[in-house]
Amino acid sequence: MGAFTYRWVSRPGPLTVDDYRRRARRAVPGMVWAFVDGGAEDLRTLHANRAAFGRWALNSRVLTGNDASDLSVEVAGVPLSLPVLLAPTGVAGISHWTGDVGASQAAEGAGTRAILSTASSYSIEEVAAATTEDHFFQLYPWADEATGARALTASFIDRAKRAGLRALFVTVDVPVLGNREDERRRGMGAPPVLTPARIVDAAIRPRWWYRFLRHQRMGARNLVDEGGVEAAVRSVRAQYRFMRPELDWTDFEWIRDQWSGPLYIKGVLDARDAVRAVDLGATGVVVSNHGGRQLDGAVASLDALPAIAAAVKGRAEVLLDGGVRRGTDVVKALCLGATAVCIGRPYLYGLAARGPEGVSHVLQILREETARAMTLMGVARVADLDETWLLPADHVVGVEPSPPEQE
Ligand SMILES: Cc1cc2nc3c(=O)[nH]c(=O)nc-3n(C[C@H](O)[C@H](O)[C@H](O)COP(=O)(O)O)c2cc1C
Repeated sequence: MGAFTYRWVSRPGPLTVDDYRRRARRAVPGMVWAFVDGGAEDLRTLHANRAAFGRWALNSRVLTGNDASDLSVEVAGVPLSLPVLLAPTGVAGISHWTGDVGASQAAEGAGTRAILSTASSYSIEEVAAATTEDHFFQLYPWADEATGARALTASFIDRAKRAGLRALFVTVDVPVLGNREDERRRGMGAPPVLTPARIVDAAIRPRWWYRFLRHQRMGARNLVDEGGVEAAVRSVRAQYRFMRPELDWTDFEWIRDQWSGPLYIKGVLDARDAVRAVDLGATGVVVSNHGGRQLDGAVASLDALPAIAAAVKGRAEVLLDGGVRRGTDVVKALCLGATAVCIGRPYLYGLAARGPEGVSHVLQILREETARAMTLMGVARVADLDETWLLPADHVVGVEPSPPEQE
């Protein structure tokens, strides 16, 4: 008998995005968890985003000789080694003090890009200084609180330009803030509502609590940098005032005229809106329902994808976010016409659980899962994925199992 070796492992490390989710839940107070993991009202759209992936089965061919080690795609004229970007998430610094800087560094380490939120915990300039690649900027077209004028939006655009950020993503699905009841129940607001129980909930996570207090990355730093200390005080409140229901397509045109680089519209679910944005000069569309945080009952983003991809085919890039947790989800989105996908919560789970290393690992997990799935399907390249690789899952696996034998 040959030599038999084994390793003694006391606790297996996280293997999946879901493993990171469980770890993240333990790492942060309930108030933060409600913000990161929660959604609007009855969470119908949040769950629908996941369920939509389950309705597709993957076809596979054998003996193709194909090994999908190359997952590269191009987004905004940048070659990415992975068809997964980091979606913009506000105040990432409450999940882990390294926030947007840690996440962007992990993204570039993985050969991809992060989309920095307007409501980021680190300013545009801080992220640009801490990274080497040209990441992307997400714009909330916020109005100045007093005048309602566009000066604040213009200054964000100008700062993103000066900092060398490459692409602008204009988020259009927040005319008002979604009704996030769990956040309200847990006191997550502007300012947060503290109770003795909530303080204890934070204090029993001393590592999180200490870093949170020490680094103070809870406000929207882009506003702080606009107006010094006074703005710092206002910033937390302002995050809840960015909504502007009066915005229309003329605002989108105005933003387009301020920005000469690649321009994306984020939060589109209707093909007519996608076509209109592309007609107005958008480089791409992000099919998204904001991760189920805005209109509860909105269509799952994967379900909205095929019509949008068909409507703008060949004229624009189509990105998708919402519910991507597995490499097979990435593959399905690419088959249905996405150029690449974005992840929001998955990297926040990584960040909350293990800081930037956790984000790197989440990206690594998705890379390995995607490549493995494609190789098992017999597909060599991302460009070869199309709808012919998908079958409606209920036609394939929806066969009722025979009832168990009666004794
Ligand atoms: C905690 C959190 C904060 C977010 N903040 C922003 C934001 O500032 N701007 C934005 O355009 N989208 C924001 N989003 C939405 C994400 O960009 C993305 O659309 C969504 O997270 C995708 O769904 P997923 O979390 O299932 O991957 C946020 C999402 C989360 C979870």
